[in-house]
Amino acid sequence: MSAALLRLLLLAGLLTTIAVAQNTTAVPCPLDFTVLRRLYDPSNPPVIDSSQTCQYIRQGLRLVQSDYLRRTSRFLPPLSSADSCWRSYQQLINDSLPNFDIRRSCGFQTSWISQGCMNITTRQEFETLF
Ligand SMILES: *[C@@H]1O[C@H](CO)[C@@H](O)[C@H](O)[C@H]1NC(C)=O
Ligand SMILES: *[C@@H]1O[C@H](CO)[C@@H](O)[C@H](O)[C@H]1NC(C)=O
Ligand SMILES: *[C@@H]1O[C@H](CO)[C@@H](O)[C@H](O)[C@H]1NC(C)=O
Repeated sequence: MSAALLRLLLLAGLLTTIAVAQNTTAVPCPLDFTVLRRLYDPSNPPVIDSSQTCQYIRQGLRLVQSDYLRRTSRFLPPLSSADSCWRSYQQLINDSLPNFDIRRSCGFQTSWISQGCMNITTRQEFETLF
């Protein structure tokens, strides 16, 4: 095999690896952020102290995760959907707080949305532990 062909194959392999690694965005988020939209009246937006914005965002997320638990018996969405979950949440936040990047502004890691307390992801795991 020629060196040039080998290099081409290596490059193709590398590009595939990158494509797969970036493909996490392709997995849709199973969380339903419309739960928050239903609570939120756009004609009467809540007054939020800017120092507490991240805390409200965290609480909103807990609520959405509770809804997910109720519907699916799972506490957290799969890691592969973490990025699309943040995007869904960001889209919602964009409506009321334009230019507020929740991950950057609040220092949330992308994976954090799918990592819970004590590595529990399902109701069954929770019941086994407690
Ligand atoms: C990306 O993910 C989708 C669905 O999850 C899958 O059909 C597709 O083959 C994946 N693409 C790559 C390059 O892995
Ligand atoms: C949110 O708004 C920012 C800037 O206004 C924009 O760059 C970003 O694409 C928006 N995100 C979503 C998910 O709509
Ligand atoms: C959480 O669970 C996963 C799969 O069950 C395991 O691979 C991982 O090491 C665990 N992480 C911690 C911090 O216990």
